[in-house]
Amino acid sequence: MSPRSIGVVMNGVTGRMGYRQHLVRSVLAINKQGGVTLSDGGRVLLRPVLVGRNAEKLRRLAEEHGVESWTTDLDTALADDTNLIYFDAQITQARVKAVLAAIEAGKHVYAEKPTAETYEDALALAEAATARGVKNGVVQDKLFLPGLLKLRRLIDGGFFGRILSVRGEFGYWVFEGDWQDAQRPSWNYRAEDGGGIVLDMFPHWAYVLENLFGRITSVYAQAVTHIPERVDERGDRYRATADDAAYGVFELEGGIIAQINSSWNVRVNRDELVEFQVDGTHGSAVAGLRDCRIQHRATTPKPVWNPDLPATARFRDGWQEVPDNTEFDNGFKIQWERFVRHVAEDAPFPYDFASGARGVRLAELGLRSSAEGRRLPVEP
Ligand SMILES: NC(=O)c1ccc[n+]([C@@H]2O[C@H](COP(=O)([O-])OP(=O)(O)OC[C@H]3O[C@@H](n4cnc5c(N)ncnc54)[C@H](O)[C@@H]3O)[C@@H](O)[C@H]2O)c1
Repeated sequence: MSPRSIGVVMNGVTGRMGYRQHLVRSVLAINKQGGVTLSDGGRVLLRPVLVGRNAEKLRRLAEEHGVESWTTDLDTALADDTNLIYFDAQITQARVKAVLAAIEAGKHVYAEKPTAETYEDALALAEAATARGVKNGVVQDKLFLPGLLKLRRLIDGGFFGRILSVRGEFGYWVFEGDWQDAQRPSWNYRAEDGGGIVLDMFPHWAYVLENLFGRITSVYAQAVTHIPERVDERGDRYRATADDAAYGVFELEGGIIAQINSSWNVRVNRDELVEFQVDGTHGSAVAGLRDCRIQHRATTPKPVWNPDLPATARFRDGWQEVPDNTEFDNGFKIQWERFVRHVAEDAPFPYDFASGARGVRLAELGLRSSAEGRRLPVEP
């Protein structure tokens, strides 16, 4: 069976995520492996159409990677009937308008998170996609990280007993941009440009918690701007108007308490840039991006509090590595393959715009909780 080819309009491919994870590591990597394999053995190749604002950058990118089509005019790309999918990795603020245009043109739509800056807009996207009858999906890459897949395996295998709590630490030091360049774009630090760590990370925490542990029933967050002034890509000083750290507590169905710190102002003293510790009655686990360590109740040491004596045990030595047992592929690519199957053969794809909207809602409630200084319920 010779593979069929479908056009994928890719907007925002000159950005960090659009270029590295979506164009190179997903779409081009899928073609290199011979396409997406369908359940009947057929294959689908992806024909990227690069869209952006800067013709020169697009031309160079296309040349470098042997991509045939690029344009600075989104409408032209959307008007082509052979382009079935629209993908958006632009800055968050530019997303809604472009995705709505794609929905109107009848394209199936796949987008980076957050799908919008406000819950109202995120919901409007979900409703527009449903009304137009197009398939829709949002990037939820963390679910496909080896570390979290191992966590999923532990949960499915009944390792934890009753899960009591989840503690997440996410973050690293993002340089201020003066004496060393910042390693994130400056719009991330300006609220008026769609920045802020709550809007960036709470959508991730929403689907991670929801998928692994259960529905979120309440949120309390304290969002702060620790570093009020930064230096941008051009070397100009600017006021950081968005939150750059958020300390959140989430209650989940079944009484699980999840506490997640997100910060761009923290120096890493962990094994990975994000780690989740899960404590259950029968065992505990610490999962990062790749690795996962466990301690069973039968091997749990019995520390006794005595500040007069040095620590009696090296506590971290009492944990055991969860084996890979399989090959892990790039999480973004796995999700792309699923979305393509969803489009090509109606395979299930639960990561839709409605779940994307729940992520944006959690961010919105987190910011409101912080502003009002109180815990807020999250309606079913
Ligand atoms: N899934 C993840 O783990 C993850 C990680 C980081 C970022 N993201 C999301 O991906 C999106 C892009 O983030 P990024 O870090 O790649 O950003 P970036 O600044 O590196 O890239 C932004 C892209 O949007 C384009 N763009 C369109 N209109 C623009 C405008 N008016 N101003 C500036 N740029 C404009 C840029 O040309 C560029 O291609 C954001 O929505 C972000 O929330 C997701």
